[in-house]
Amino acid sequence: MQLTIPALFTPEECADLRARAKRIRFVDGRTTAGWHARQVKHNQQAVADDPIARAILAEVRRRLLEHPVFVAATRPKTFASLLLSRTTGGGGYGRHVDDALMGGVRTDVSFTLFLSDPHDYEGGALVIEDPGGEVEVRLEAGSLYLYPATTLHRVAPVTAGARLAVVGWVRSHVRDPACRELLFDLERARRLVFEREGKGEAFDLLSKTLANLLRRWAED
Ligand code: NI
Repeated sequence: MQLTIPALFTPEECADLRARAKRIRFVDGRTTAGWHARQVKHNQQAVADDPIARAILAEVRRRLLEHPVFVAATRPKTFASLLLSRTTGGGGYGRHVDDALMGGVRTDVSFTLFLSDPHDYEGGALVIEDPGGEVEVRLEAGSLYLYPATTLHRVAPVTAGARLAVVGWVRSHVRDPACRELLFDLERARRLVFEREGKGEAFDLLSKTLANLLRRWAED
């Protein structure tokens, strides 16, 4: 399942994050890429121990874990990694698959939180290869796109301006993406029923099914 979560941060919050990011020390992004991805990765990343970057990433992590749609879509157990990425003129990230393990933690869901205003740079779309074709994603500042970590994907070259984004990986309680999608749909259906009828018999049965499927599929 691929999903957009709009307006995780407001435009004002993004402007503040971008201003703070100007004081961060960035290094060549190849330092965190697998040996094959290194050949195609041309971006910069905040150094892991930069205090401003750490504060920004902690804020993103907190905001994500408080967001009911993100939580329902990913069933997060933990974050395998979060990185602040900056791509400028000519940079990009060629076709690759993300590492299956990061620091010993399995990556199930990948996401990109766009922090730059799309008018402030050219190119830089996240392009995900899907059996049905390519999906090109270029979102408003503050919006997030999530997709299975199993996909081949790339970041199109940034031809002007700078593209600032937070990229991250979730280790999910539910390993199988098809099972995660079923749980997500059931959660949405349950909320729709609740809005229409309140906590009636249909809601209770859907809740029971959701809880018991999660028991069946979850790794704790
Ligand atoms: Ni990637």
